[in-house]
Amino acid sequence: MTQDEMKQKVAEAALEYVRAGTIVGVGTGSTANMFIDALAGMKGEILGAVASSEATAIRLAGHGIPVLDLNEALKQVDSLSVYVDGADEFDAERNLTKGGGGALTREKIVAAAAVQFVCIVDQSKQVEYLGAFPLPIEVIPMAQELLMGAVVKLGGRPVLREGFITDNGNIIIDVHGLRITDARGMEDHLNSIPGVVSNGIFSHQGADIVLMATPEGVEKL
Ligand code: 5RP
Repeated sequence: MTQDEMKQKVAEAALEYVRAGTIVGVGTGSTANMFIDALAGMKGEILGAVASSEATAIRLAGHGIPVLDLNEALKQVDSLSVYVDGADEFDAERNLTKGGGGALTREKIVAAAAVQFVCIVDQSKQVEYLGAFPLPIEVIPMAQELLMGAVVKLGGRPVLREGFITDNGNIIIDVHGLRITDARGMEDHLNSIPGVVSNGIFSHQGADIVLMATPEGVEKL
């Protein structure tokens, strides 16, 4: 089975967590795109979806799925029923690295607004420790050099994501070479650096359920 076929299977498996009559949070990336395509088959059953990026909003709307602004959605309901998204890495505690697509801040916000985060991945994303995938940090441009200096002190190698501006108008620094043994502590520490908007460690907003595709089928972790 190819990686794309595995992504397809796990995206379809996530439909089981979508409840009729609710608002669904939707992530960003190639696996999330396959989920959006699958969700189109249920569009008449849900109230709508909250998108974690402009790209996701466009894809949802292309399928005729009502796209709701998060603030408007939270005036109608106490919380989103589920947030479905991919990840760049996940560990045994279901901490995640996200932000390969640069949407980490909105992804974290929408995940925080949902009762349940269902993470859809193929087996290549499973790691012992986060950090092999370069850790994305969204930063206000003025703080670029300040953040890079702080990251070097942590033993990381910061690289500006060239030519990329987030949906929020900020830059992304990808940090190479970290071996993150304390995901929660590292998430909190990076967030304490002035100018950081958010970082790609999802420990506070880790997955409640990881659905992992393997050539043998989809495992629930
Ligand atoms: C985007 C993300 C994605 O979930 C992550 O990059 C995984 O993407 P893909 O499903 O394409 O492998 O965090 O910001």
